[in-house]
Amino acid sequence: MDIHYDLESLRSAIAGWKREGLNIALVPTMGNLHDGHLSLLQHARTLAQRTVVSIFVNPIQFGHGEDYQRYPSTLEADRVKLEEAGLDLLFAPDLDQLYPGGTDEDTRVTVPGLSSILCGRFRPGHFSGVATVVTKLFINIQPDVALFGEKDYQQLLVIRRLVHDLCLPVTVIGMPIIREADGLAKSSRNAYLTAEQRRRAAILYQTLTDAASAVQQGERDLTSIEQEGLARLEQSGFRPEYFSIRRSADLAEPGPGDRDLRILVAAWLGEARLIDNIAALRPV
Ligand code: PAJ
Repeated sequence: MDIHYDLESLRSAIAGWKREGLNIALVPTMGNLHDGHLSLLQHARTLAQRTVVSIFVNPIQFGHGEDYQRYPSTLEADRVKLEEAGLDLLFAPDLDQLYPGGTDEDTRVTVPGLSSILCGRFRPGHFSGVATVVTKLFINIQPDVALFGEKDYQQLLVIRRLVHDLCLPVTVIGMPIIREADGLAKSSRNAYLTAEQRRRAAILYQTLTDAASAVQQGERDLTSIEQEGLARLEQSGFRPEYFSIRRSADLAEPGPGDRDLRILVAAWLGEARLIDNIAALRPV
């Protein structure tokens, strides 16, 4: 496995592969790798002749007072996992490589609409931060395919829109959420939970599965399902930001004829902001 820390050496490695006609799959991450990330890499290896993982904690997607400063950094452990998983190239740039103009008045990429609802309402600027860094990675790594987890469902749709609107020659693949035995979605931020909170955290997924069952059993009153979800989370000690049933394709409010829905939640438990989501298909 090759490791590159700067754009210049990354670009020459990519140029070499391109000359050989090899296709490339990219998995962008912020490191602190777990089975969710590794599932993306495993699938990437079946899709392309060369795989690239990026590890970069992207400052501009964190708001003021968010966890940028304490986001777990475990580069050496990550390197070992990636090597064992058969990765070809790890790109782990320093800040000045991806932000040569600093992060105050630099050029940004913004996907309108989608970026200001749900998580975007509570984290202004977050999705523009994601869209900007992913664009920089796409331009420099030139992947044929890029893989993203449905764990960050709204992020996945933002990236799909970005690729569509900027006419980027990349196929975006969405991958299923990898969970702990009790249903909690794997996440680097689960480490912020105390042991007692960690036990309680499984309620988040249970709330989603119960809401999905209600939708699938034909309950038409989506607002009451949302309110029940919010109330249950509050009773269990969470501080929910939203619990929302949306149209899967674009996260718009569902109309009466929409069947393919997604239930999305963001809620604080102690110091951890947890997000999760689940598909829910309405009966005909
Ligand atoms: P990060 O949170 O490290 O996640 C990297 C990728 O792993 C994302 O596509 C995310 O959806 C996926 N992922 C995380 N947990 C998962 C799980 N439990 N199951 C399946 N996939 C999971 O998302 C980011 O980093 C950043 O915003 C990034 C796209 C790298 C831009 O900075």
